[in-house]
Amino acid sequence: MQRVENEIARLIKEIDYDEVTRLFEMLSGGKRLRAKLILKIAPNHEKAPLLAAIVELIHAASLLHDDVIDEASLRRGVPSVNATDGSKIAVMLGDILYSKAFTELIDFDRDVAKIVASSVTALSKGEMLDVKMAENFNSDEKKYLDMLYLKTATLIESAAEASAILAGKDSSQHAIYGRNLGLSFQIIDDILDITADEKTLGKPAMNDFVEGKCTLPYIYLYENLNTEDKEKLKNLHTKKLDTLEITWIKEKMAEHKSVEKSFSLAQKLSNEAMLAVKDDTGLVSILQTMIQRSY
Ligand code: FPP
Ligand code: MG
Repeated sequence: MQRVENEIARLIKEIDYDEVTRLFEMLSGGKRLRAKLILKIAPNHEKAPLLAAIVELIHAASLLHDDVIDEASLRRGVPSVNATDGSKIAVMLGDILYSKAFTELIDFDRDVAKIVASSVTALSKGEMLDVKMAENFNSDEKKYLDMLYLKTATLIESAAEASAILAGKDSSQHAIYGRNLGLSFQIIDDILDITADEKTLGKPAMNDFVEGKCTLPYIYLYENLNTEDKEKLKNLHTKKLDTLEITWIKEKMAEHKSVEKSFSLAQKLSNEAMLAVKDDTGLVSILQTMIQRSY
């Protein structure tokens, strides 16, 4: 992973703007899930650290823009760039990072570059869908999972597929692994929003529903509520929740096992991911760490 950090530092230095370096250093690197995945799939390829750096820069750019869109003030435990330096700077820093990442893609074969580049169109579509869906209460599981696939899974899928091409491995099976890992990852994220606290998460807890996001545990809860409680839940959508309302949601979720049902789906997707790479131990350990994570 040190090679990836060195590549990231090199790319940031090449941007040749002190303000960008300063702002980038203020970001917390995060879990680097996508980079770890690329190194596990193509450990011996000389360009794997660069590909990993590219994907991490795209991911960082997407979070900078996402925090502007979500008006979030905290990211990975530190104040977001839009909170410290304003939304204009956050948007432009994102633009600089992802355009730099795209420039670096030209050093890769056409198929690798195309897979990564088109996943960014998909994730941008996913973000737009997420915003549109948050305008209304959504209880459609398929619609939600289709959006999650675009918003979160496509970049992970493309990282797995592209690095498999580099390594001469079965790229379609690795794409399946990446897609299922990505979906499972986001479902765990949805669960942690409900079960973890702000300190552990590095961002506000119980915030998805306030942001309008009807995540999987809310969809499963809604399915099981009686007519009166369905109405009550719908009325809480996008509302800043007080302690009583949070307790009500959590109690109802416990009663109807909404979190457990969501976790089962994450587990099922994770198992499918495992099967796709025929129990490759390195990739299985990434899945296990991801599914057992607490933040
Ligand atoms: C986090 O979702 C957001 C994403 C995974 C994708 C965001 C994508 C864009 C803003 C498209 C633009 C892309 C580029 C490269 C500039 P979330 O809000 O559910 O998660 P969170 O709780 O961590 O904020
Ligand atoms: Mg967000």
